[in-house]
Amino acid sequence: MFEMKKIQASGKDQLYAELLTHAKGLLHDEHDLVANAANFSALLYHSLPDLNWVGFYFMKDGGLLVGPFQGKPACVHIALGKGVCGTAAQKRETQVVPDVNKFPGHIFCDGDSLSELVVPLVKDGTLLGVLDLDSPKLARFDQEDKQGLEALAEAFLESLP
Ligand code: SME
Repeated sequence: MFEMKKIQASGKDQLYAELLTHAKGLLHDEHDLVANAANFSALLYHSLPDLNWVGFYFMKDGGLLVGPFQGKPACVHIALGKGVCGTAAQKRETQVVPDVNKFPGHIFCDGDSLSELVVPLVKDGTLLGVLDLDSPKLARFDQEDKQGLEALAEAFLESLP
């Protein structure tokens, strides 16, 4: 049984290294998409500081549909190419947005969100969806967060069949 422990870390690199170990421990016994997405978003939400939303959008019928998340109720459908999530999905590139008010077409779900990071989820060449993190702080995410969260997203993808 996985036990959630408080992560003690002196810097971001150590925080992400520890979090990756925790995530692998949490996900390795299960391969169900919804179960692992739910637990994974809860792990991130409770381990990383200054977040107000963490969760998934999965591809369905050619667009993004909200999946398991932590935070306030969110937009349900996002078209490919729209907002930060749709842009990350369409380009298959992580988007780091220091100020969402300066991102053309940003979709407002929670007015508390000021910065955002979205990682596309691509498994064996197929776009499954995106992992989205929102923060109430401006410029909350830097290149270390990008690398750390891309590695965590990869661990999530590896847990799937
Ligand atoms: N802000 C996102 C929409 C999703 S919510 O933040 C949960 C976007 O622009 O794609």
